[in-house]
Amino acid sequence: ATANIGVVGLAVMGSNLARNLASREGNTVAVFNRSRAKTDDLVAEHPEAGFVPSFSYEEFAASLQKPRTAIIMVKAGAGTDAVIDELVRVFEPGDIIVDGGNALFTDTIRREKAVRETGINFVGMGVSGGEEGALHGPSLMPGGSDESWVTLGPILRTIAAVAEGEPCVTHIGHDGAGHFVKMVHNGIEYADMQLIAEAYDLIRRGTGKSPAEIADVFAEWNHGELESYLIEITAEVLRQVDAETGKPLVDVIVDQAGAKGTGAWTVQTALDLGVPVSGIAEATFARSLSSHPEQREVSGSLPGPLESLTVDDADAFIEDVRLALFASKIVAYSQGFDEIRAGAAQYGWDIDLGAVSKIWRAGCIIRAQFLNRIADAYAQTPDLAVLLTAPYFVEALERAQGSWRRIVATAATGGIPSPAFSSSLAYYDGLRAERLPAALIQGQRDFFGAHTYKRIDRPGTFHTLWSADRTEVEAEDTH
Ligand code: 6PG
Repeated sequence: ATANIGVVGLAVMGSNLARNLASREGNTVAVFNRSRAKTDDLVAEHPEAGFVPSFSYEEFAASLQKPRTAIIMVKAGAGTDAVIDELVRVFEPGDIIVDGGNALFTDTIRREKAVRETGINFVGMGVSGGEEGALHGPSLMPGGSDESWVTLGPILRTIAAVAEGEPCVTHIGHDGAGHFVKMVHNGIEYADMQLIAEAYDLIRRGTGKSPAEIADVFAEWNHGELESYLIEITAEVLRQVDAETGKPLVDVIVDQAGAKGTGAWTVQTALDLGVPVSGIAEATFARSLSSHPEQREVSGSLPGPLESLTVDDADAFIEDVRLALFASKIVAYSQGFDEIRAGAAQYGWDIDLGAVSKIWRAGCIIRAQFLNRIADAYAQTPDLAVLLTAPYFVEALERAQGSWRRIVATAATGGIPSPAFSSSLAYYDGLRAERLPAALIQGQRDFFGAHTYKRIDRPGTFHTLWSADRTEVEAEDTH
């Protein structure tokens, strides 16, 4: 046995992670793939890596030092279970199996429980940063047992991205905690992308600027408080010209957004937990709306606003859009972190929210300067109930809210869809409201279903006898 770590599944993500591991001092990497050709190619193309190839699970296990540690990099789903079964067959108690795919956290909880019974450790690990990240430094979100972290931690620290001298990896929590956090990362990614897309659309329709000109706007924004990977690549995409037609590439791409499911999982899970992640939900639904051409086709005759959008001062409008984007982004991240907090409480994970924001500062898709502010907020108040109530964000929202309101109003009167901008503002105003019309909903529920209500002036649970003399009686609490 010569290798201290192994990788199973040598498609792009797996190969790149294996190469990243092999490039770090002290690592010898065993590699295995179901079809032999991928293994042969990788070993031939990267002699410098010193890979230890194997062509059966038995050989793979024999090439690993104990405790054997293997990272599975296959497409999430049934394939993952098949590989786990094989590794459990050839591994021994104390060994460590890591799933680096985008698994649903409830699958990870199930798998961890089953594998633990054999004495083998199972770690579900979120890996963010795409192909480049896997090769040069991803953001890593491992769950699993404390025992496995002892072996895994030092190895993962060497390959993770580095933010201000700190590796972007931390032990998130037990069993499915890592995949849960990765799921929410992707939900925030959806919201951030939708917000950027809405900003682009408003600027384009409002000012008539070309995609290349708007690329300059985003490039400039990337020097300020919005600095982030997603803003940076937005400028690149907008600047790209299609070689065939000479048009901006963005005008040639079909306007139907795909989705592999992690955004939907974030929303489904939030619904179960009762956490309002409205920005993430709107972003997910906006992708669904875009990708139903048959519905969009039949809606061609729907009436629009009488006046189209007119913008007098383009620069002022663009600055309003920037601040609306910043405010909505604060809401999206705040909602995401609230979901992690609620998930941790529900599943019994001890998740350090500040540490999560820190490991997202580099390597991952939502990497941004802004995450330092989130880390500060949790450092100051670790049990912060709503992230956006931290002083820095309150100050930012105060500064941005005028612009935010103007943009949402302008979009509405101009008939420009801005679901993420407007739902974020509605969420914010809902949070702020001293009284919500939820009181009326309680009245309606009590009317048709005797669902009862609480009073503001005394304890207890009450019901009005709506179909009799409408007097109020004390009732049992039915929620
Ligand atoms: C990452 C990305 C990565 C992947 C998503 C995209 O963190 O590296 O989030 O996981 O790009 O699968 O998701 P959609 O295909 O659903 O947009």
